[in-house]
Amino acid sequence: MELRYETLKDMQATIIIADASKNLRDTISMYLENNLDATVYQADSASGALKLIADIPHIHLIISEQNLASGTGSEILASIRQTQQKIPFVLCCSQPPDQIPAFKNTPPDDFILKPSIDQGLHKIIGNVHSGKYQIQIRSRLFNHEPFVKVKPRILHILDKLPTDIYVKLQADKFLKAAHKGDSFTEDDVAKFALKNVDYLYIVAKESDLFFQTTLQKIQEVAEPAPLEDAFLLSSAMQESIQKIATVMGVTPELERLIAANTKTTLSVIQKNPSLKSFFTKISIDPDNYIITHSAAIAYVACGIAKALDWHSEHTYSKLTIAAFLHDVGLDNPELAKCRTDIEFAAHKPPFSHAEHTIWREHSTKAADLIRTMHDIPPDVDHIVAQHHERPDGSGFPLGLDYHRISPLAALFIVAHDLSHCLHHDEAHLQNFITSQEKEYNKGFFKKIYLALQTLEQ
Ligand SMILES: [Fe+2]
Ligand SMILES: [Fe+2]
Repeated sequence: MELRYETLKDMQATIIIADASKNLRDTISMYLENNLDATVYQADSASGALKLIADIPHIHLIISEQNLASGTGSEILASIRQTQQKIPFVLCCSQPPDQIPAFKNTPPDDFILKPSIDQGLHKIIGNVHSGKYQIQIRSRLFNHEPFVKVKPRILHILDKLPTDIYVKLQADKFLKAAHKGDSFTEDDVAKFALKNVDYLYIVAKESDLFFQTTLQKIQEVAEPAPLEDAFLLSSAMQESIQKIATVMGVTPELERLIAANTKTTLSVIQKNPSLKSFFTKISIDPDNYIITHSAAIAYVACGIAKALDWHSEHTYSKLTIAAFLHDVGLDNPELAKCRTDIEFAAHKPPFSHAEHTIWREHSTKAADLIRTMHDIPPDVDHIVAQHHERPDGSGFPLGLDYHRISPLAALFIVAHDLSHCLHHDEAHLQNFITSQEKEYNKGFFKKIYLALQTLEQ
């Protein structure tokens, strides 16, 4: 008997899932364990996943988010490929892998696109069965088991149970423990934990409905991504936005990406719009200056808007989209670093005449491009057109002064200046405020300046 048990155990597959959301890990584990003869191990960070990979002798499949604490999914993939391990790697992320530069050389074997996780998992199970990943994992689909198991704590995230819930008394004997439509409280979770009940059960034919309802709920209550992760994701999407806009102009893909990136950025900003937190957690990558600079301006501009009590979603959207598109015509980061004629002239080695033309025209050209797009809120084109104007009228293309620069454009110019200082490692807000006192002492710039001062107190 013992030998038979060991043999069966050996045949059970091992799957690792890495994601920051515990509810999501639990739900995906539940789905996989009910569909495949597999044990699922969970990791909430890249280092946790790598430790599991090192500790567990034979792993059949890894499903991982890209943005994780202490690393990324692409780093996990690179690590297993470096050691010649052929473990299939499935990316589970809100962006397809071909839009994430880190997967360019080593793409994942498959991907699940959030939030359509249930469809993605159906695809993965289908691909396991069809042999796509060349792994042997037995299916439970044909076992015709009448019940499938769920973890009690998953039930708590649902407002109302979508199905009846059963407790297992003995093999083949189940007793109804809660009814469809009931709520399942934290006390209920504790009650089952005290009784050492690890799993509750639902009728197998209702499992799809249960699973879909649970995933929907997880998406609704999902914790926003940590700021650093959201910034990484924004920067990755910004890279594609920059490329498509520069090379191909306005395409449906570009508009979809802008919408997706705006959603990602706003989900974080609305929960945590503190300018100070952006300062401590965002940094500009000098090797990817234009991309990270554009993504950083989105956060900094919204942080300033919040300080001015302009925290409508509409304002955040306008500033965020303007940030993503303001420098689309530039592909030389050295040009993007120049804000004024003085900075341009001081650059060593000097720029060419052609580079001067590109730089002087980029804000107008970006605004023209925006005017050809659908579904872009009003004012974004003006913000972008004016992002190199200065309060004293020394900017370009029109030399507008503080009287004629629109309030939203003034806010954007300040955010652009502030993000420029992030790059030069003078991130301390007080340094910036002191250095800009004279320049911002006019019109709407002064109002912004005073709002920045209250942030420091
Ligand atoms: Fe810029
Ligand atoms: Fe610019």
